[in-house]
Amino acid sequence: MRDVTLTNIFDHHIAKKYVTRSGLAHAVAVAYHAVKLAKIENVDVDLAAKAGFLHDIGHYTWYNQNGKWDYELYRKNDIHAIKGAERAHKLLIRLGENPIRAKQVSLAILFHTDSFLPGGEVDRTALQSIVKRADEKDEEPGGAHHYRTITADKARQSLQKLDSIIDRHLTQQLQQRQAE
Ligand SMILES: [Fe+2]
Repeated sequence: MRDVTLTNIFDHHIAKKYVTRSGLAHAVAVAYHAVKLAKIENVDVDLAAKAGFLHDIGHYTWYNQNGKWDYELYRKNDIHAIKGAERAHKLLIRLGENPIRAKQVSLAILFHTDSFLPGGEVDRTALQSIVKRADEKDEEPGGAHHYRTITADKARQSLQKLDSIIDRHLTQQLQQRQAE
């Protein structure tokens, strides 16, 4: 029923490379949080899951000369939300996602953090707000959430499970609408 599933995304080498770089366990956890919130707030669960899973796909590494993560460099130079929005969009379109939906996911990734904005708040849609809060739910002090590990097999299984949760929810919604 969906054009692209989370498992399809995971199986693509671009997702494997970049989502793994910023923390696969974190990406899977945020996708789960996003689906939970989307169910409660009656927001599109498929879009929430995709934006949740891909939200950090634009991360770049900022290391100092000693090979240590440099938060100062990151804070000054980071554009991971911008890069991620573009990267996720390209990936989804390649996989055959509907362009309107690919754009919604891309915008939710763009606005999942304020870190690249020079002051000022963003007026977020329900979907964009969910992705931001889902990310915050999984955050650990010192960015430790980016280093939590999970095997590729376990991640794929978790995403397959989330795919069936999403499909079940969408089928239920459709049946409810037809009954009305
Ligand atoms: Fe994140």
